[in-house]
Amino acid sequence: MSDTPRPDLRPEWTALQDHRAGWEASLRDLFAADPQRAERYVVRVGDLRIDYSKHLVTDETLARLRELASATDVFGLRDAMFRGERINLTEDRAVLHTALRAPRDAVIEVDGENVVPAVHAVLDKMAGFAERVRSGEWTGHTGRRIRNVVNIGIGGSDLGPAMAYEALRPYTARELTFRFVSNVDGADLHEAVRDLDPAETLFIVASKTFTTIETITNATSARSWLLDGLGGDEKAVAQHFVALSTNAGKVAGFGIDTANMFEFWDWVGGRYSFDSAIGLSLMIAIGPDRFRELLDGFRIVDDHFRTAPAESNAPLILGLLGIWYGNFHDAQSHAVLPYSHYLSKFTDYLQQLDMESNGKSVDREGRPVRWQTGPVVWGTPGTNGQHAYYQLIHQGTKLIPADFIGFARPVDELSGELASQHDLLMANFFAQTQALAFGKTPEEVRAEGVPEELVAHKTFQGDHPTTTILATGLTPSVLGQLIALYEHKVFVQGAVWNIDSFDQWGVELGKVLAKRVEPALTEGAEVPGLDSSTTALVAAYRELRK
Ligand code: F6P
Repeated sequence: MSDTPRPDLRPEWTALQDHRAGWEASLRDLFAADPQRAERYVVRVGDLRIDYSKHLVTDETLARLRELASATDVFGLRDAMFRGERINLTEDRAVLHTALRAPRDAVIEVDGENVVPAVHAVLDKMAGFAERVRSGEWTGHTGRRIRNVVNIGIGGSDLGPAMAYEALRPYTARELTFRFVSNVDGADLHEAVRDLDPAETLFIVASKTFTTIETITNATSARSWLLDGLGGDEKAVAQHFVALSTNAGKVAGFGIDTANMFEFWDWVGGRYSFDSAIGLSLMIAIGPDRFRELLDGFRIVDDHFRTAPAESNAPLILGLLGIWYGNFHDAQSHAVLPYSHYLSKFTDYLQQLDMESNGKSVDREGRPVRWQTGPVVWGTPGTNGQHAYYQLIHQGTKLIPADFIGFARPVDELSGELASQHDLLMANFFAQTQALAFGKTPEEVRAEGVPEELVAHKTFQGDHPTTTILATGLTPSVLGQLIALYEHKVFVQGAVWNIDSFDQWGVELGKVLAKRVEPALTEGAEVPGLDSSTTALVAAYRELRK
């Protein structure tokens, strides 16, 4: 491994520190000084209009941030990723989720082999299967048509399809029921299947490794539920279980016919996998054509990220803005606030994408980082948040940069009064970013006749930075564009911080310890080396459970 210089020791980093130290302008000042700011600080990608004018930046800030990106060779690493080089160093893997949405005639090689034909072969197989389920041609063991689809998976094998199913509900086959089971808490599977008829239920077991304990446990229980409901004939499994995985051996070992397995590859990271076979449940829900539109959306942003100059490269700009706040303003978190009910799971999805990728404290060479890395990503749909935690964003002591995502049109299914509520929703959307940016001065509060003792309480300091992402509507393509935008933003930040954004060793220790502790819970077994606190807790648990 090469010895990459620490980013925080680069002159470009120090220049940003100096720039920050000399910072005095407010957003009010910046807008007053530049009447064109609202037009100049906008970037368009596909159907997304991304306004970053309400950020605490000037042309100089942006130029200095781009210099940091150039010094840390973000675009060099980007090109290496698109070329299929093994940029996931600790797992010695290529990082090629972009190949999942490449056109049929593209050539992308891993170890000298073009992977694109295999990608499209799996997409075609998924499409054939999805059509058979949607049309009723694929039946259950007793000959009844499938009406319920239950995806069993966790992390990247759950969050993507579950999020996208919610996001694209108006495009889904409403006559089918979709459920997503992830938690090893038996209540999750219980609630998902308690009102379903096993004869009409298809389980999709989604696991890249096919060793994840939560998924295999739930899949085993689902198998028992199915066999109990269908009279115990093992042959039923073939019609009611399919697998999405990279591990054919384990799939066969579980008892699923590998003819009913949809493959993907080790160069697809779990949190980057939902546009692979992992999206099968979504494809059944929205149909293969809509799924292809989603992939086209991803590709629009891939092409933009690959080719747009730094000045107008949206993932680069968003990534660098995050670095400006995280590394030079001590911001600890980043809020993502969609003003769409359909994006209720979008931030959950981004949490894994961002926090599992960039929650690292050693650099690519294994040296401890001396600079902040990934932020805490959080948020819920906007208007609900307004009546819960926005108080802290407006008047608390923490700087919380936020992304506001909204749409010009409500979904086509809404009509009459429900459709007209959309303007009210969006009035809130625009009002919030305005209030966050420009606040309300004590003078303005006084001018409203507020008693002096309340002026401080009713003052809004403003200067809370936001990005506004606006699109016409939430279509499959727009969803793909949004996800690719965030994927590449996370990439940019990892590249600047010189961390491996594609491994996830931090989830391993808990897994190992859970396996070690389990016998203590089930059999009261003594666990060698267990600390005294955990020993006492386990004893209390066993006592309470009696
Ligand atoms: O949480 C760790 C992790 O490996 C994620 O990266 C992954 O998305 C998830 O577990 C599920 O893994 P699998 O798809 O192999 O079951």
